[in-house]
Amino acid sequence: MKKQTVIHVRAAEPEDWRALHAILTAPAAAAGTFSMPYNSAEVFRRMLAEPGGDHRLLGCVNGEPVGAVILMPQGPARRAHCARLAIAVRDDWQGQGIGTRLMAAVTDLADNWLGLARIELEVFVDNAAAIAMYRRAGFDTEGCSRGFALRHGALVDVYRMARLRGIKPWVAPAVAANEWV
Ligand SMILES: CC(C)(COP(=O)(O)OP(=O)(O)OC[C@H]1O[C@@H](n2cnc3c(N)ncnc32)[C@H](O)[C@@H]1OP(=O)(O)O)[C@@H](O)C(=O)NCCC(=O)NCCS
Repeated sequence: MKKQTVIHVRAAEPEDWRALHAILTAPAAAAGTFSMPYNSAEVFRRMLAEPGGDHRLLGCVNGEPVGAVILMPQGPARRAHCARLAIAVRDDWQGQGIGTRLMAAVTDLADNWLGLARIELEVFVDNAAAIAMYRRAGFDTEGCSRGFALRHGALVDVYRMARLRGIKPWVAPAVAANEWV
């Protein structure tokens, strides 16, 4: 049984760069995401110093950030209803509900504060924990991309997953025979 952990979710601040670096460069977190194991902390310092349009949330235990989720809106214009999502929990805190809590916070943000209709991501096909978490948060598998990213020396497939809200199925209009070129 999981131990009861009080998880506080808040926005990332510029001074959280060291914590974000620790979360994303831990071996399992780096292998599960598309992050690099030896990323310089400076990369994260610069990222958090720029407000940008991304929404960066941290899951904290006893005030310490141990997980992060980033929602990246794809607008403006025709993809304004879409966002990409990336999430990681520091290796020593995985399996204790942090990811689930962050997903609840970020889907509430997407649904009720940003009005997004589509959240999309790629996940390695053997990442059972992440796939289970995404399915529970309402994501479906849309397809598979072969040899998508290098991981420990092998090109690994990913599933493309998305969570849709209020999108009606699109039906191609019938094309008259004389319109074919
Ligand atoms: C994927 C990740 C974000 C999940 O966060 P977490 O805090 O470890 O996950 P939680 O403790 O909230 O558990 C989420 C669910 O994962 C599932 N899960 C966990 N371990 C699992 C496993 N080995 N096999 C199958 N499902 C598993 C369970 O359904 C679990 O919920 P439950 O235990 O309540 O039934 C985290 O493990 C992580 O950072 N992994 C490395 C980076 C990564 O893979 N990011 C995703 C990139 S797409």
